Amino acid sequence: MVVVHTLADLRQHLSAFRHPALVPTMGNLHAGHLALVRQAKPLGDVTVSTIFVNRLQFAPHEDFDSYPRTLDADCQQLEAAGCDLVFAPLEAEMYPQPQTFKVQPASDLADILEGHFRPGFFIGVCTVVLKLLACTQARVALFGKKDYQQLMVIRNMVKQFAMPVEIVGGETQRSPDGLALSSRNGYLSPAERQQAVQLFATLTHIVETLRAGHPLEAADISSLESQAMQNLNRAGWKPDYVAIRRQSDLQAPHADDALVVLAAARLGATRLIDNLEV
Ligand code: PAF
Repeated sequence: MVVVHTLADLRQHLSAFRHPALVPTMGNLHAGHLALVRQAKPLGDVTVSTIFVNRLQFAPHEDFDSYPRTLDADCQQLEAAGCDLVFAPLEAEMYPQPQTFKVQPASDLADILEGHFRPGFFIGVCTVVLKLLACTQARVALFGKKDYQQLMVIRNMVKQFAMPVEIVGGETQRSPDGLALSSRNGYLSPAERQQAVQLFATLTHIVETLRAGHPLEAADISSLESQAMQNLNRAGWKPDYVAIRRQSDLQAPHADDALVVLAAARLGATRLIDNLEV
């Protein structure tokens, strides 16, 4: 596996290939990222992973500075998973001048849920993903379904800009107790880690109720959401949202829509997100 830090080196190494498969990451890798790399392997003629903590998608009060940077360990894991090429640019390489051209995603998709609680987040994500796709000329790019809305925003961006890349989702990887794998799980204290599974349990309960109770009225949906928020609150969480939405566009569902249940909540100082399709 080759590790490069500059665009010039990246382009030189990629010049021999026609169908790069890309797994963009911010590093501090876990089994979820590595599953994406393994999924990417048969989809291209070279498997590329990027490691870049993208300042643009962090608000000033968020964890950009403390986000774990573990390049050596990440590279070892990527190599073992079959990655061929790692692009790990410094900030000055990705943003040699202030990034004043940015992607403004559609507000009906990007200003709800995560976008509502993290204003500007999807502008930062879309801008860096567009740039990483341009740098790597990827023909296929993989993103985890744990970031369900992110995957959908990126799919829409690529479609609207007619970019020649296929966006593929990877299933959420979970610990044996159900907690979705996330780089931010490392922030949890041992006691919080024990408790963290409550987020998955909350989603599971809603999914089971929905499966048992179809068709549900709008009122049932909002009472399921508010019950779940109250239960999380009582257990010591600070939930941002628990939302039952339709899978196609994350808007409020109508009868017979395929559903997804999404949640974001803070446990101590750590904000976790998760979702389950119904
Ligand atoms: O999901 C992530 O790790 C990031 O949002 C991404 C897609 C690598 C863009 O920085």
